[in-house]
Amino acid sequence: MTGITAVELRQEHVPNTLIVFSGAVSIYKHHAFSMPFLDAVIRTFDQALRTVAGVPTSSRRSPAHGMADAPLDDSARRHSAGLMRVNHVGEVCAQALYDSQGRFAHGESMKRQFAKSAIEEQDHLAWTAERLRELNSHISLLNPIWYAGAYVIGTLAARAGDAYSLGFVVETERQVEAHLASHLDRLPAGDAKSRAIVDQMRVDEIEHGAAAHALGAAELPGSVRVLMRAAAKVMTTTAYYV
Ligand SMILES: [Fe+2]
Ligand SMILES: [Fe+2]
Repeated sequence: MTGITAVELRQEHVPNTLIVFSGAVSIYKHHAFSMPFLDAVIRTFDQALRTVAGVPTSSRRSPAHGMADAPLDDSARRHSAGLMRVNHVGEVCAQALYDSQGRFAHGESMKRQFAKSAIEEQDHLAWTAERLRELNSHISLLNPIWYAGAYVIGTLAARAGDAYSLGFVVETERQVEAHLASHLDRLPAGDAKSRAIVDQMRVDEIEHGAAAHALGAAELPGSVRVLMRAAAKVMTTTAYYV
């Protein structure tokens, strides 16, 4: 790896790894020896690699599409990039949470709702990654750690049962929505593109929380909600810079 920086490694080499890995997945899927457990493991790794490498696809066009990119001075651009990197990390975690919680959920309607929300979270992931590129910045170097941590937390939430898992979604989306609202105050006034993205994300997160609530979410204990806020604080503070 001599001569290759961490950023070059992530942006230039991981996509090649993904192409090879996706090819291997396609070959595997067409063989008769495919097994459900192995299928699930391979799909999980495929999803994780795509998410942490910042190469997602979106089903909806970015809310910032077609908007003029107003010039920002260097300090404003760096501030916008820091906030959008935090939001991108939030979406990396959302992918891991919805994937793990959906995989270990019992109810079929819950699995369907989680799959639907995960598609919209993937839009958010793609929009924030695209905006970071436009701001000449980068996704978090710690994405593999954020993804793995969120996957473990999502699995634990799912193991607590469907009602508590839904309660975890409601509380997560509530905290994310408040956090996005604070970003609308903190983003530079001239950065209309980032603001349009964050605004639509906020609308979607409110819907995700309401859908989880309607499926029978249980209220989480106060101590768990406090722990979730503390974990989110560590993530948002770190991801602004790294
Ligand atoms: Fe999201
Ligand atoms: Fe969401």
